[in-house]
Amino acid sequence: MIVLGIETSCDDTSAAVYDGNTLLSNIISTQLIHSNFGGVVPELASRAHIRMVLPVIREALKKAGIKTADIRGIGVTYGPGLAGSLLVGLSIAKGLALSLDIPMIGINHLEGHIWSNYLANPGLNPPIIVLIVSGGHTQLVYVREWGSYKLLGRTRDDASGEAFDKVAKMLDLGYPGGPFIEKLALNGNPEYIRFPRAYLEEGSLDFSFSGLKTAVLNHVRRLGKRELKKHISDIAACFQDAVVDVLVQKSIYAAENNGVKRICVAGGVAVNRHLQKKMKQACNEKNIELFWPPANLCTDNGGMIAAAAHFYLKRGVTSPLTLSPRPSLNF
Ligand code: KG4
Ligand code: ZN
Repeated sequence: MIVLGIETSCDDTSAAVYDGNTLLSNIISTQLIHSNFGGVVPELASRAHIRMVLPVIREALKKAGIKTADIRGIGVTYGPGLAGSLLVGLSIAKGLALSLDIPMIGINHLEGHIWSNYLANPGLNPPIIVLIVSGGHTQLVYVREWGSYKLLGRTRDDASGEAFDKVAKMLDLGYPGGPFIEKLALNGNPEYIRFPRAYLEEGSLDFSFSGLKTAVLNHVRRLGKRELKKHISDIAACFQDAVVDVLVQKSIYAAENNGVKRICVAGGVAVNRHLQKKMKQACNEKNIELFWPPANLCTDNGGMIAAAAHFYLKRGVTSPLTLSPRPSLNF
């Protein structure tokens, strides 16, 4: 069954073709315009999706070597995300489903991130704990079986990627901030300063990064321009360490507490190699299996939506064409 996946929830326009075994194509067009503003501008994002969505779908079909008539079902992200951006993907999916007379299913973007791990490791079986770390989300999810999810914890304020982006802005680096901070941190001294880690109340699997962000801001303000320049790599390293420590410890705690021996990671922050290294070490120590998708499946992509859609469509689960965007959708 050939499924077309469409993802337009934020600032990536993506389409992918999946046949249940192989990801035949996964085209991603990232909107660079937002870097001028230090964050995603919703109105510009939806306009760019309108321009790019058809060319990206055409490219995905071409790369997969198929025609529109070969598509047997469509999966599309219907939330969470920016309302205008979601609307573009949903509208095109509905139009295609109607004109081709094929079923469509709306996919939760967060569930999509979980499926990116299945795409990277087709033999992967639940139960698994998934850490989703992106610009908009930081969550721990218990996957009992495919299609059955329990939210164990989520951020109470900033998402981890958002913290990377905001600290990068304080340090006058570019957007998105994660890659800049990671690169700087390579030459930084992780012992320079200990920024606070928010573990919250005992046993909590929620996250909080706003205190850390404020601590970095206060430190940056205390330093003069010259001192800041001298220690910018150290600050990046110490901030990154603080984020990674909490993400790793809470993921391990979630696995142990639920008797699960497998951890998966997803979302843009999962591209971070320091996080990969620390999570690997911790999982080795605890005899937990760790799965990590390649970078192009960590960040937003249509492939993960196609994989989730394939699972549901094969079981006859579909959405009506009246489906609306759900910007605040959760598990
Ligand atoms: O999943 P994603 O592409 O889009 C959202 O759904 O948000 O994640 C984007 C986020 C941004 O906040 C970006 O700064 C962060 O992922 N990111 C990183 C790295 N690469 C991207 N954070 C830390 N280290 C990285 N190497
Ligand atoms: Zn995402």
